[in-house]
Amino acid sequence: MIVYSINLEVIFLEKLVINGPTRLAGDVIISGAKNAAVAILPATLLINGICTIENLPNISDVQISCQILEKLGAKITWISKNSITIDTTDVCHNKAPITMTSKFRASYYLIGSLLGRCKNAEVGLPGGCNLGARPIDQHIKGFEALGATVSVSNGKIQATTNKLVGTSIYLDMVSVGATINIMLAAVLADGTTIIDNAAKEPHIVDVANFLNTMGADIRGAGTDVIKINGVKELKGNATYSVVPDQIEAGTFMLAAVASKGDIVIKNCITKHLECLTAKIIEMGANVEEDGDIIHVWCDKRPKKTNVKTLPYPGFPTDLQPQLGVTLSIADGTSIINESIWESRFQYTEELNKMGAKITAQGKTAFFEGVSNLSGAPVYATDLRAGAALIIAGIIANGKTELYNLEHIDRGYENIEEKFRNLGASITRIEE
Ligand code: EPZ
Repeated sequence: MIVYSINLEVIFLEKLVINGPTRLAGDVIISGAKNAAVAILPATLLINGICTIENLPNISDVQISCQILEKLGAKITWISKNSITIDTTDVCHNKAPITMTSKFRASYYLIGSLLGRCKNAEVGLPGGCNLGARPIDQHIKGFEALGATVSVSNGKIQATTNKLVGTSIYLDMVSVGATINIMLAAVLADGTTIIDNAAKEPHIVDVANFLNTMGADIRGAGTDVIKINGVKELKGNATYSVVPDQIEAGTFMLAAVASKGDIVIKNCITKHLECLTAKIIEMGANVEEDGDIIHVWCDKRPKKTNVKTLPYPGFPTDLQPQLGVTLSIADGTSIINESIWESRFQYTEELNKMGAKITAQGKTAFFEGVSNLSGAPVYATDLRAGAALIIAGIIANGKTELYNLEHIDRGYENIEEKFRNLGASITRIEE
């Protein structure tokens, strides 16, 4: 984070200093899923009462979500660093300013939630990782189909309606955000809404489970057709625990392979990681599953492989940079095709500074495996790129200095402590 004094001089800059190489070994406990938590928190706006949410990841996206909810009138009590009670009974505001919404992507869920609760929402445009164009036309199409009038101007989105009425909505492309946002708007609508070509990610199922626990009637989440029977009210008075983070678990699985290490990953849902498990085995590493534990170990240089990112249950784009680091030291040349985001190879330039041989052309990147990386000063270009560069620093010879930590802090709880517990030499310092 950069902090400026009054005369705009930079007074400090945080960085991670990583000394490698380290063969990671030990246990790690996975936190709650960021992308579920940041949708469940705005979903509480649909409740007329109090609920408790457990297993919230302690990350900056969750902190800012809570601050916005408080600004709208919610009362939040922190029971521990990972659980809150939230009382949305007195929420009376329907405006979320761009100064807050631009700090993260998931602020767009305030539109669906406020539209459902107040029939009127004025929400600043969302921010989040720079991965190329991130349109929200499918969200808007869904709100309009439900009966809202939506406009975008002066950096904010306004959505208003007299009444939301259930209808059938076919998404032109599989979109996580549009699926959840339409689901949020439809929960209290009159009649039944059907979302066709819906996304199937685990966090969509988790948001639907949360809303159903609070009194909604959502069926089919996790398939490509979701049916939402509108209800009059969500009463709350229940406790919900956020699903474990599939992407955090996958990050540590790939860290085990890249560092030729041995990691026992606890509190994960193995089913959510099937496509990664298959890839890791294809790369010559070992995976053993036991209930909510995945054990990954690797005793030789990983083999090359090819991957195309796809919506769930395909290979997640959010694990693509972490896989990229692993392939940068694999035996042979691998190809990754990124089919979701247009600019998700920015990290490859940083990795090349560490001695990797990667050529990225549009949505395809070629990874000519080298035997070693070497430490260098590098910049996290987005959240998952940041996690990938931590792994790179851990496996590289010598010292890596990693900057732009605010990206990483948005989505990983205690990441350096978790890696330190696995043996990494990693310290956060202010410059
Ligand atoms: C969610 O983003 C995640 N973010 C992303 O995780 C993740 O990469 C992405 O899903 C894909 O899995 C959150 O959940 C907060 P999409 P989202 O709508 O919802 C296009 C991370 O690192 N599209 O599924 O914004 C879009 O351009 C982040 O944790 C439209 O064209 O993604 C993209 O090509 C990064 N119009 C594709 O669909 C729309 O209206 C998928 O986007 C919506 C999307």
